[in-house]
Amino acid sequence: MADTLNIYQPIKATVERVIIESPLIRSFVLIPEKEFTFKTGEFIELTINGFGEAPFTPSSSPLENKKLEVTVMKTGYVTDRIHALETGDVVGIRGPYGRGYPIQKFYGKEILILGGGCGFAPIRSLLFNLIAEKEKLRKVVLCYGAKTPEDCIYKSFVEELRKIDKFEVYRSVDKADQSWDEKVGVVTILLEDLRMDIENSVAIVCGPPVMMKYGTLKLLEMGYPEKDIYLSMEKNMSCGLGKCGHCMMGKYYVCKDGPVFTYDEIKDQPNIWL
Ligand SMILES: Cc1cc2nc3c(=O)[nH]c(=O)nc-3n(C[C@H](O)[C@H](O)[C@H](O)COP(=O)(O)OP(=O)(O)OC[C@H]3O[C@@H](n4cnc5c(N)ncnc54)[C@H](O)[C@@H]3O)c2cc1C
Ligand code: FES
Repeated sequence: MADTLNIYQPIKATVERVIIESPLIRSFVLIPEKEFTFKTGEFIELTINGFGEAPFTPSSSPLENKKLEVTVMKTGYVTDRIHALETGDVVGIRGPYGRGYPIQKFYGKEILILGGGCGFAPIRSLLFNLIAEKEKLRKVVLCYGAKTPEDCIYKSFVEELRKIDKFEVYRSVDKADQSWDEKVGVVTILLEDLRMDIENSVAIVCGPPVMMKYGTLKLLEMGYPEKDIYLSMEKNMSCGLGKCGHCMMGKYYVCKDGPVFTYDEIKDQPNIWL
């Protein structure tokens, strides 16, 4: 019998909870109709019936397969519709796709994570994974930046992370208010005072393109080798399956060869920061 499997067919998932993270960012806890497994850094396509679909990297733990969380910034047509979702609504999900973080390569090392804005979403999933494997790591340092204090997401998660042995968190905002007692300035200022054993360390960057660019340049200046800087790349995507060509970045399909690349792999490809 011919194989009739439709690779674009999503499975159903029900919205269990909506969490308002900031004025522009919401998280959605989804219950898939069957168990859904992913590795941290891989992405899914989320479908809103009658509107369309968009790629998101789950922000929840990859060790949990009955629930899935995505954190979505409102930027346009599909994300506007996602922000209107309420408890009980049904969406479609397909995937997981792509290549995530090679966690085993991080064992025995210090891990420096640089995140900005909604780039905290894949990083939170990664952090859940690193917490579960912390005995295999030397330390994990998270540097996170947002525009203002109210744009900082996952506030209670950050408080919990700060209590965990081997984990350090530093935050900055571009514009502070009276409630803010952490750093003020672009996120790369957090790298100035860090003490990392760079030879035994890897760096991970995820955020808006401009932050990815200047973050990477700063890490190179600090002495991080190109092969030890991991970037989670975002390009416009359609199929998510390496078929339509929308996500091409030079010789790579970001949806299939990435979204996680080392800087060494992509530095010579065109328009990597666009
Ligand atoms: C692998 C991957 C993982 C992602 N993970 C997340 C996530 O966890 N949370 C999250 O909020 N967003 C994530 N994104 C970005 C998200 O997919 C886009 O914001 C979304 O597709 C925009 O759809 P829209 O119809 O609302 O916007 P549109 O109406 O299509 O466009 C509005 C604006 O968003 C820009 N845009 C559209 N698609 C993308 C894109 N893929 N990347 C960057 N900008 C885009 C457009 O250039 C335009 O300026 C991810 C993207 C990729 C490729
Ligand atoms: S999104 Fe279609 S080839 Fe990558």
